[in-house]
Amino acid sequence: MSSAIPSISHSAAPVVRVPPPMAMLAELTHRCPLACPYCSNPVGLTPGDEELSTEEWIGVFSQAADLGVLHLHLSGGEPAARRDLVELTRAAVSLGLYTNLITSGVGLTEARINDLAGAGLDHVQLSIQGVSPEGADRIAGYRGGYERKMAVANWVAATGIPLTVNAVCHRQNMGEIDGMIELAIRLGARRIEVATVQFHGWAERNKAALLPTREQVERATRTVAAAREKYQGVLVVDYVPADYYSKYPKACMGGWGRVGLNVTPSGRVLPCHAAETIPSLTFQTVREGTLSEIWYESDAFNAYRGDAWMPEPCRSCERKHIDFGGCRCQAMALAGDARATDPVCIRSPLRERLTRETNQLSATPSATLHYRGR
Ligand code: SF4
Ligand code: FES
Repeated sequence: MSSAIPSISHSAAPVVRVPPPMAMLAELTHRCPLACPYCSNPVGLTPGDEELSTEEWIGVFSQAADLGVLHLHLSGGEPAARRDLVELTRAAVSLGLYTNLITSGVGLTEARINDLAGAGLDHVQLSIQGVSPEGADRIAGYRGGYERKMAVANWVAATGIPLTVNAVCHRQNMGEIDGMIELAIRLGARRIEVATVQFHGWAERNKAALLPTREQVERATRTVAAAREKYQGVLVVDYVPADYYSKYPKACMGGWGRVGLNVTPSGRVLPCHAAETIPSLTFQTVREGTLSEIWYESDAFNAYRGDAWMPEPCRSCERKHIDFGGCRCQAMALAGDARATDPVCIRSPLRERLTRETNQLSATPSATLHYRGR
């Protein structure tokens, strides 16, 4: 970047020393042919004409590699909606980044997958929405999507690129987890990530239709445990359990500003995909500062690093360096305060209220899906 970059003000949050990020999620575009109601993209999607150019993305990848990033996740929206996907992948590979394409599969042809393989793409993560064409296409809001995914998985397998299947599960498809695990094996995947929906972005709007019941969650946990045993050495089964029925929150993003960063289609640099829901924070774009400045020095990245910012009960809790007080965006959404203990935690004063609301909502589900905009 040139010396014309405005300097970043870092007056509020103390700068906490951290190692470089290991991973970067590049949301190349918010455009997507699918309309999944669980999408974690923000409700205000970035229009195509505001996306970073090819040159700008390559510049960001180059900065990321210099900064020490090892893993580059090429994501969206649907990254295949970018015409320059192969070019971007080739550039990232030449910079020594491990490249993972996170895709719905729609928009990829056999020729394009071969081109991506030729560019050196390291890994593909393909989403599925269910085990039947009707059910999966209903969730995705896209007819023919299921068949396309099956074809894409076969084309990927033919290139030899390792495949992970990503299955977001929720009230509407939670009974299909064993079927989705079997499908992943049939597709030649080495790994499946069964991730319970988290209520950010569009998913927040669909909470009443997507929130699983306690019984579903308990059954899912048993299904995953049995599958791990059954398919040991064949398929790795990763599982992200449901937040609202857990005792403790997750270490969201491995802790705020500790492990990775996200870059939005227009180049805004965020500690996580939902960070812009925290109104007190200001986020710089790659046009306003270097990745290094933003990672190490910006107020937004330093806001919840370390433990000096934590209120009680987190401040004196023995788990504070395990889960870092949970998810800041969830605290913002449920407690109205991003500094609060994540209300999912049994030690949060809001936990009882959350349990009451969760039980009420799961007992009176909505059948209406509000599909993501395109
Ligand atoms: Fe984690 Fe805070 Fe709960 Fe302790 S009190 S378990 S640090 S969220
Ligand atoms: Fe932002 Fe968890 S999604 S900290």
